[in-house]
Amino acid sequence: MNTAVHSRVRVSLASRSYDVHIGSGNWEKLGPAIIESTRSEKVLVVTSPEIGRLYRRPVVKSLQGVGLKCKRIDIPDRDRNKNLRSVSRLYDAFLEAEADRSTVVLALGGGVIGDMAGFASATYLRGIPFIQVPTTLLAMVDASIGGKTGVNLRQGKNLVGSFHQPNLVWINLETLQSLPRAQVLAGFAEIIKHAVIWDRTHFRELEKTILNAVDLEPKVLSGIVRRSCEIKAEVVSKDENEQGLRMLLNFGHTIGHAIESLGKYKLLHGHCVAIGMVYAAERSAALGYASAKAVHRLRDLLERSGLPSELPRYPRRSYLDAIGVDKKRRGSKINFVVLERIGKAKTVPLSPMKVLPQSFLKR
Ligand SMILES: NC(=O)c1ccc[n+]([C@@H]2O[C@H](COP(=O)([O-])OP(=O)(O)OC[C@H]3O[C@@H](n4cnc5c(N)ncnc54)[C@H](O)[C@@H]3O)[C@@H](O)[C@H]2O)c1
Ligand SMILES: [Zn+2]
Repeated sequence: MNTAVHSRVRVSLASRSYDVHIGSGNWEKLGPAIIESTRSEKVLVVTSPEIGRLYRRPVVKSLQGVGLKCKRIDIPDRDRNKNLRSVSRLYDAFLEAEADRSTVVLALGGGVIGDMAGFASATYLRGIPFIQVPTTLLAMVDASIGGKTGVNLRQGKNLVGSFHQPNLVWINLETLQSLPRAQVLAGFAEIIKHAVIWDRTHFRELEKTILNAVDLEPKVLSGIVRRSCEIKAEVVSKDENEQGLRMLLNFGHTIGHAIESLGKYKLLHGHCVAIGMVYAAERSAALGYASAKAVHRLRDLLERSGLPSELPRYPRRSYLDAIGVDKKRRGSKINFVVLERIGKAKTVPLSPMKVLPQSFLKR
């Protein structure tokens, strides 16, 4: 077991501050960390059957080792199950376990489990404590930090939710060994996004080490995950409720979301964001915000990591529909995140014409 790389990142939010612990093979220390960060005696471990089979045993052992009572709750973790029906099942299980405000919910899984367990803990008894134990790279650097929780409605993704900060985020990088490669790459898209909007030194580091990083080389990976968590923590600390700065995290997401929905959610979110970032960077250059060199560096890094960068060829009309621009709203502006240079981005209100010009895809 390798616990040498253990480090922590603070998410500073006044009384709602918490630590993100990053380590490898660190299950043993999870129980003691929960005792330190909550006053709870009972832990509800929410996970999916698949992830449970892989990781529940060492987690429960660590918790029981410090005298915490554990109750296991299984729930399917496909995104199509991220809905109010699943949340309702969680409430039933919480009641059955006689959960009260001194009970803590622990989400063991990817963003789907984290978002559902987080939302259930945000709303059950008007809020009970919550711990994130992310097992996908995307959840480690993105979904588990910042307190956004929620579920999908039939009409759209993430339409119901709440801000509910966790008491602790516990990352065990060893869990990535069982994660399918496509899911690993999806996490790298958000890692590259954090670097390109916020930190050119980190971007340069990624340019040097990306091949080792996507191969999950422990030393390289732990440094990269740590820096990426720091960036997310910094942005969230400065703008918890997404009034301004936090919107920068939507870089690549306007077109990324459109591609996801046009592809009927068969493509992974991170892969769509990779394509969306290249597109956003190209638009930034065309509109005079960024240099062609910056676009080239971003595209090159994404492609070398193994992520896609080419826009799927749906008609322009379909893209406009997908980003919510109907005929009546042609005149209204879209808050679009543009790249200014590597390590710097800003949000600008752009007309749909500027985001998706007539010449779109006629290259
Ligand atoms: N709250 C936020 O701020 C935020 C941010 C980004 C995304 N999200 C949400 O997160 C969700 C996506 O999360 P995700 O990308 O983590 O994917 P996910 O939770 O859908 O998990 C992807 C797949 O990997 C499997 N899996 C998870 N960990 C594994 C492991 N260690 N080994 C083997 N298999 C494993 C899961 O069972 C699932 O099949 C979306 O619903 C999205 O809306 C939320
Ligand atoms: Zn994203």
